[in-house]
Amino acid sequence: MEVFLHKIGGKEVPKPVRAELRRCTAAEAPAVYALQNEVRAAMPDPSQFVPDTLENITAYVQKDLCIGMWQGGRLGAYAIVRFCGESEHNYAAFLGIPRAEWPHWANADSAIVHPDYRGNGLQRLMLQAALPLFPGNITHIGATVSPENQYSLRNALASGFAIAARREMYGGYDRYLLVKEL
Ligand SMILES: CC(C)(COP(=O)(O)OP(=O)(O)OC[C@H]1O[C@@H](n2cnc3c(N)ncnc32)[C@H](O)[C@@H]1OP(=O)(O)O)[C@@H](O)C(=O)NCCC(=O)NCCS
Repeated sequence: MEVFLHKIGGKEVPKPVRAELRRCTAAEAPAVYALQNEVRAAMPDPSQFVPDTLENITAYVQKDLCIGMWQGGRLGAYAIVRFCGESEHNYAAFLGIPRAEWPHWANADSAIVHPDYRGNGLQRLMLQAALPLFPGNITHIGATVSPENQYSLRNALASGFAIAARREMYGGYDRYLLVKEL
């Protein structure tokens, strides 16, 4: 999916800059991992984002779905969606959904936009680009957001997610659990 960036480095650009939203390949997993680490290291409150290992990210890119935003050969943003089926990692499990329904739930796992590219609505656009690539049996998306993460929370609500619960996740982090029905 083609997108046009209106802001780079926090400044309006004189002419919109073309970028591409597309599925990342396994060979690109190290770039996804590097972007995760770079952005997290610069976050004022890193507890708002629980990082993942290169091994896990490689598996998500291969078996789940990772949408990247590429601008002139540079990865500037990514979003990972996981299809956890009956595994305990499925957010449906934390919402009291009967196990038989878990395979119909996707996890909106993570989204990162490099500070250079913020303000272009990329978190929302990446979800839009991901939706047509979902398996046909998915009816719901679950997500977790730190109540302190105003940017991510605002984007999730604007994308049609609703807050369903608040609880500790990932070994002690305060999180809203959100749900979007497809
Ligand atoms: C959450 C996140 C992906 C949103 O990025 P985005 O899609 O570019 O955000 P938006 O386009 O909706 O930005 C809207 C406004 O908020 C600003 N903004 C967005 N994220 C910001 C941040 N982390 N810090 C400061 N300002 C931010 C944008 O610059 C923009 O400002 P403007 O209206 O003056 O142009 C991004 O902040 C981020 O990567 N955060 C760190 C990782 C994270 O928390 N991920 C979510 C949990 S998985």
